[in-house]
Parts: sequence; structure tokens; C-alpha cells
Amino acid sequence: MSVKPFLKWVGGKRQLLDKISPLIPADYQRYIEPFAGGGAVFFSLSCQLQRTKTPAWLNDINPELINAYCMVRDAPQALLEDLKTHIYDKDYFLAIRGLDRTPDGLASLSPLKRASRFIYLNRTAFNGLYRVNARGQFNVPFGRYKNPLIADIRTILACSAALQNVQLGCASFTEILCKAGAGDFVYLDPPYIPLNDTSYFTSYSHDGFGIAEQQALAGMIAEMAARGARFIASNAYVPAVAELYDGFKIIEVKATRAINADKNGRQAISEALITNLL
Ligand SMILES: C[S@@+](CC[C@H](N)C(=O)[O-])C[C@H]1O[C@@H](n2cnc3c(N)ncnc32)[C@H](O)[C@@H]1O
Repeated sequence: MSVKPFLKWVGGKRQLLDKISPLIPADYQRYIEPFAGGGAVFFSLSCQLQRTKTPAWLNDINPELINAYCMVRDAPQALLEDLKTHIYDKDYFLAIRGLDRTPDGLASLSPLKRASRFIYLNRTAFNGLYRVNARGQFNVPFGRYKNPLIADIRTILACSAALQNVQLGCASFTEILCKAGAGDFVYLDPPYIPLNDTSYFTSYSHDGFGIAEQQALAGMIAEMAARGARFIASNAYVPAVAELYDGFKIIEVKATRAINADKNGRQAISEALITNLL
């Protein structure tokens, strides 16, 4: 049985699970995701991880995201109570969104209130996007939905159960991958190499993720593989990926992605799964 993620996340891997899951080894001593995002692959594996008592380590550079994971894991009931107080209304949305523009920013909110704001915005902002400006302020517009489910009790409780005993971290991938080695299975879903300048959404954090980060990532993946870690990495299916991951198996898979504001931006594109498992 697969647990549904509690967030919608751009680049989420739910629709590729049927391609990724069959490649995942049956046994390993630790599961690691350095770019967790919505955690679709982790949640799909969570029942098996719990049954086999396999430790898991989820990481993402986004502190609001990781704070939300912590609250879902540690305080699901209180979080749900707070989520129930939100309303789906444009002026209310703008007021909640604007909390990071106050003098103290989000620091004036408790971790629980911050997680509640984050999940509320995820449910009600346009396309469930997460985007911040150069000052780190969330700037996605109000989304038009019929009746968005803000306090999704069943999903939050299932995710909370799945996250028990999971180690959560908020660091750059470099700090995680240097600790991976023999016995680990690592699934990596970084921001992708752009297909061209405009068609790909790459600003997950205001730091960006450019070719220097892609090169550092490929280098660290090769090092952890040499130490005995097994891995699957997602990326765009472009020539630069073949160059960066020379020596590893690269599988082409098709995904439908909605990345542009206009409705024609939804199209089937090729993605790459890079692995040392085959
Ligand atoms: C494509 S998303 C992951 C999607 C996820 N697999 C899912 O199913 O929803 C990429 C993630 O990488 C994170 N990220 C960006 N730069 C990072 C870095 N240097 N270190 C760690 N995480 C990073 C972003 O915050 C974002 O959540």
C-alpha cells in the first residue's frame, strides 16, 4: 500500500512511480533522499521501510518544507486543528502569504503555525507552486480551485505514521552525499538541467541550482557509488546528463509536466533515470 504525499510539489514523482519502483533494490540498510520535495518515492516505499525497520533519512534545502515535515511527524493532531482554522478566500490568502513580509518575517511564528501556513499555501496557491523572491518571500498568486481540501486528515495522519523514526534534515545535498556509502540506497531528484532557457522551472530556492551544482552533484554521486552506495537519480533527458553521468546506465522515461502558466505548457517530455543498479 502506498501513502499519498501531503504536499503537491513541482517535479513530484508520483506519475513516474511505476518506472522508478521496479528498479529499487529489495534490500538495503538505509534509505536516503537528499532532495525530498513532496517525497513521492519515500511515501510509496514507507510501508515496506517500516515493515523491515529500515532507517530513512530525508533532506531538503527548503527550511519551510522540512519544518512542515517535522510538524506532520511530531504534532499531526495540533497541526490539523490549526489547518481547520484556515479559509479559502483571496484576501485571507494574501494576509497569510504576507506573514513573511513582517519585520520579523516567519521567525515570529511558532513552528506549528509556520507549517500550517506552508501547507495552506501549498493547497491554495496557483498550481501548488513553491516560489520565493530574492528576499525569500513567497510570491505565488492565489489559485482558483473548486473546493480545496486544506485539512486533509487521512493524508496527514498516514504521512505522520510513515515519518515516525525518519531522520529529517535541512542542508545542501553535499552534506548528505558525503555520508552515503555501502548498504545505502539513495534516490536523488534534484532541480533539473534546463531543456532550454525558458521551459523549465528551476527556481526552487533563491540560491538557484546551476551547472556548477549539477557538476558537483554528478561528482559526489560517482564518489558515493565508488564507496558502495546504490542509487537512482532523476534528471532531464538531455546530452549534458549523458556527459555528466558517463559510465552509468541512463534510462529514458516519459512524463507529463505542467510547468508554464499557460495551459499549453502541459506536455509529455523525456526524463532520465540514472542508476548503478543495472
Ligand atoms: C524536483 S524537487 C523534488 C521533488 C520530489 N522528488 C517529489 O516527488 O516531490 C527538487 C527539490 O530539491 C530541493 N533543493 C534545491 N537545491 C537543493 C540543494 N542544494 N540541496 C538539497 N536540496 C535542494 C528543492 O527545495 C526541491 O524540493
